[in-house]
Amino acid sequence: MSDTTTLKNAKILIVGGAGFVGCNLCRHILDKHDPKEIWIIDNLLSSEISNVPEDSKVNFIFGSVADDRVLAKLPDDLELVFHLACYHGNQSSIADPIADHDNNTITSLKLFDHLKESKNLKKIVYAAAGCAVAEKTFEDPTATSEDAPVSLFHDSPYSISKLVGEMYGNYFWNRHGLPFVKARFQNVYGPREILGAGSWRGTPHTVWRNVIPTFIWKSLNEEALPLDNGGNASRDFIFVEDMAKGLVGCAQEGQPGEAYNLASGVETTIKDLATYINELTGNKTSVDLKPARDWDRSGKRFGATLKSKEKLNFSATVSIKNGLAKTVDWTKKNRELINQSIEKHEFMINQFSS
Ligand SMILES: NC(=O)c1ccc[n+]([C@@H]2O[C@H](COP(=O)([O-])OP(=O)(O)OC[C@H]3O[C@@H](n4cnc5c(N)ncnc54)[C@H](O)[C@@H]3O)[C@@H](O)[C@H]2O)c1
Repeated sequence: MSDTTTLKNAKILIVGGAGFVGCNLCRHILDKHDPKEIWIIDNLLSSEISNVPEDSKVNFIFGSVADDRVLAKLPDDLELVFHLACYHGNQSSIADPIADHDNNTITSLKLFDHLKESKNLKKIVYAAAGCAVAEKTFEDPTATSEDAPVSLFHDSPYSISKLVGEMYGNYFWNRHGLPFVKARFQNVYGPREILGAGSWRGTPHTVWRNVIPTFIWKSLNEEALPLDNGGNASRDFIFVEDMAKGLVGCAQEGQPGEAYNLASGVETTIKDLATYINELTGNKTSVDLKPARDWDRSGKRFGATLKSKEKLNFSATVSIKNGLAKTVDWTKKNRELINQSIEKHEFMINQFSS
């Protein structure tokens, strides 16, 4: 394609670049795309500094992207921006909607407003959430497409903030020509998602984050894997290396104003996920069948992949079983790091269980 945006020799900003997806993206760009500089802004609210690669091309700015003093430290000739900061995750946002606003809504507005006059900016890629636009169903789902209708009723402030970010970006694109591209994520998993990363965010989900790292950790410790609602919900799991390639695809080929699903297109039930993980770790302990979570109506879902394939030439290539094997391997090698990250929340976790 003639209007491909190149990352080679580019000055790139990753907001939330110490986080799980952000640090994998940073490594992928350094390995494959020979950028000039990568700037990272992160307040380490849900991440560990150890995730940031030590590389002379990487400049780390500690602080919130909503802080003008932090924004003032950025070069004014950035060419590409990936906006991955969020208040992680749904349950924390329910526990503290104001903290979600401060780190998941005002953040996007401040960033887009700061960049609106940028002369060199070719693309800004926003981490949008597929869950915010997915149909709520426990029947057989249809693939969520990019033009799926969006409800005004949401289960968490997190979900609302992710949509508000899309709307602000669309506004700045229409009004100021901000080259805003939406990458709609399905459920990402893989190495460098550290349980307990960052500071306490009001619930035990600070530690347990997402289902895959939680299941792998518990399974390696021969614990029973908890299956909410019998494990019959399903998700579209995408390996983080595929996600990094998809984000680069959005930067290279994405058209401003457009949304692209970054999805595997494969539906996996939580029950099957537990079986695969227990097989990989050799955990023989029976699963723990639990009732449905009171806030969660999400049920079953997966993303449509056609548009990303046709327009970005992107398809996820890592199968769930291969991706899980790599993630189990990484977890085994990083047990001490993860344990330390979990243990720093011990006092707060005990408050919840007492
Ligand atoms: N992981 C998934 O499955 C998934 C699914 C849908 C959407 N997303 C989106 O992808 C992005 C990355 O997710 P992740 O899983 O890597 O989460 P993460 O929590 O690991 O990364 C988010 C990063 O943002 C940082 N951050 C928070 N507030 C900030 C602020 N005010 N200023 C600067 N940095 C701040 C955190 O410290 C963290 O490093 C998020 O925007 C998330 O909403 C992720």
